[in-house]
Amino acid sequence: MNELTDSFPLLEYPPQHVGIIMDGNGRWAEANGKSRYQGHQAGTDNLERLLDDSIEFGVKMITAYAFSTENWRRSTIEIKGLMKILERVIDNRLVELSRKGVQLRHLGDLEKLESTLRKKILQGIESTRHNEKLILNVAFNYGGRSEIVQAVQRVIQDKIPPEQITEELLSRYMYTAGSPDPDLIIRTSGEFRTSNFLIWQAAYAEYYVTPTYWPDFNKTEYYRALSEFGKRDRRYGGRKG
Ligand code: IPE
Ligand code: IPE
Ligand code: MG
Repeated sequence: MNELTDSFPLLEYPPQHVGIIMDGNGRWAEANGKSRYQGHQAGTDNLERLLDDSIEFGVKMITAYAFSTENWRRSTIEIKGLMKILERVIDNRLVELSRKGVQLRHLGDLEKLESTLRKKILQGIESTRHNEKLILNVAFNYGGRSEIVQAVQRVIQDKIPPEQITEELLSRYMYTAGSPDPDLIIRTSGEFRTSNFLIWQAAYAEYYVTPTYWPDFNKTEYYRALSEFGKRDRRYGGRKG
């Protein structure tokens, strides 16, 4: 890989599904003399860039953690800013993303979002549903524990008898129903924790943690994460070799 020639050798084993905990927008803003809002905007621009890299590198699905169920603990102004950014992406960037073959999906609880935003998300999902190049799951108002709780509630509503409750069945009640589990989860800004991200689905995901703040996580570093994934020995509890 060479940043000057921008040439990245073909990856032998690219992960199919990459989850990204896009952390560090606030610290990036502070380090660069900008507002937190500008930090989140820079982070969003970086995600759009990473989608191009994902298509180039052969990744088929990205799950981007954009707003957690715990992020409601932040100030009203920051929360409003994050909602606005998502709305603007749908308004201004979705046509271009769709042209590139990106299919938008949403993971999380839409009910607590304002109805204008909720409708835009649903329209965005509908208008891109035939795209096949890359699936982008936006985890927005997403929490892994809350996802499990809603799954259990719906299992009970559906009157499923206990003996029919299997891992496969519960998987079908998660927001990710029908999607492959994440192969690789990247967390930027150096924190070694899941922060409630895909806790059911990531049982056997490989983790890659980097100190880089999310807005600075560039193509070279993404390539490095994907190459490292290719070298991991995934045993799923079995024997080595
Ligand atoms: C991640 O950046 C984006 C969201 C959680 C919405 P942060 O806002 O958490 O950035 P830091 O962790 O304060 O640097
Ligand atoms: C995780 O980052 C959530 C998102 C990236 C959306 P946080 O900044 O909210 O996580 P903590 O607070 O460091 O665990
Ligand atoms: Mg953070």
